[in-house]
Amino acid sequence: MLTDARGLAVTTDDPAVVTAIDRYAEAFLAYTDDASAILEAAVADPACPLAQALAGALFLFLESRSAPAQAEPYIAAAEAAPRATERERLWTAATRAWADGRLDTAIDAHKAITARWPEDLLAAKVGQYHLFNQGRCRELCAMAEAVLPANRDVGYAHGMLAFGLEQTHRLAEAEAAGRHATDLHRTDPWAHHAVAHVMETQGRIAEGIAWMEALADAWADCNSFMLTHNWWHVALFHLDRDDPEAALRLYDERVWGVWKAYSQDQIGAVSLLARLELRGLDVGDRWQDVAAHMAAAGRDHDHVNGFLDLQYLYGFARAGRDGPVAAMRDSLSRHAADRAAAGETAWQEVVVPAADGLIAHARGDARRAVDGLAGVRDGLIRLGGSHAQRDLFDQILIDAALDVGDAAVAGPMLLARKRARPTVAVTDRLLARLAF
Ligand SMILES: [Fe+2]
Repeated sequence: MLTDARGLAVTTDDPAVVTAIDRYAEAFLAYTDDASAILEAAVADPACPLAQALAGALFLFLESRSAPAQAEPYIAAAEAAPRATERERLWTAATRAWADGRLDTAIDAHKAITARWPEDLLAAKVGQYHLFNQGRCRELCAMAEAVLPANRDVGYAHGMLAFGLEQTHRLAEAEAAGRHATDLHRTDPWAHHAVAHVMETQGRIAEGIAWMEALADAWADCNSFMLTHNWWHVALFHLDRDDPEAALRLYDERVWGVWKAYSQDQIGAVSLLARLELRGLDVGDRWQDVAAHMAAAGRDHDHVNGFLDLQYLYGFARAGRDGPVAAMRDSLSRHAADRAAAGETAWQEVVVPAADGLIAHARGDARRAVDGLAGVRDGLIRLGGSHAQRDLFDQILIDAALDVGDAAVAGPMLLARKRARPTVAVTDRLLARLAF
């Protein structure tokens, strides 16, 4: 039995295994690519349940259909370990539940870990990830609040809190926490990101660009998600300031191209290309490259996460790939029915109607787009994603509603946007379309 960098017991006698676990935790908190040493640790000590569980989780973070099968040998080894602490048993149970798609159970296990061992920031981080993917914003924030007292000297804890506060609309507190995290630990990209969310939400466009550009040098070691996503946020600021060409340059230079096979890189690309088109920009043949990589990754039968699925589907549709669109729509119906039978209704109640609305919009059928999207607008949060990410669906709905002159749908949405972000000029132009 040894202890890790946070003073937590680990069932192993091999210091190298503990080092790998510490590196893994640091990699997830800092969003670097430094987690894979856990695979060597899992081989080095097959009886260390935590190394096995974390190795399994590494595959699950790939967010791909094949990930549970890749994770399985590690999770099975964790379960078969002859000795385990209670914390390690909870980590194993959480990872098993995640692989099985029982996210409620996984979340409960992470809550149990963080309640008894609040020093386990990685447990809080992974718990927040699951809560984020379920749109459970208050609990996401509460998880960071729960572990903060034990981690006040750790910058990451404040960055985790900052994002939770932002997602619960406590914007001033979120900004303060994000700035404090950055003061404690300048290179924390998640803290930078949380403050960017606040500035985006408040329409503080020039400030947002300045904040992110001043810190961008700190993202050099980030993994593809964090690197491309932070630049995605900078691109949003450029869209807000009516400079879609600058946003397109960021798409080409920063957002698309780091790891084209990865889920988050793909949806970041779809989400930005769609926003660029909604601003009237011709994005050329860029949809084709994204669609090719989504097809290669089998996204038309993915169904790991409904929020991701909707963006893959829209990307296929905008690329004119009718085959994958039809295959994915059929596959979605089957998956939604299966999940509903298991008691998880969001796929059937939200994902399927939204999918029809998005396909319709991509094909220019604005009436059907409104019909599909308007009814599920309040339910989309059940699919997870951030408010800024899900805003794409609002933008598409507004576009479709304006096309068919549906003021009852577009009017209140545009007025709410104008109230929240009066500095964003495109809202006024869209309101003018409504008036005429
Ligand atoms: Fe974000």
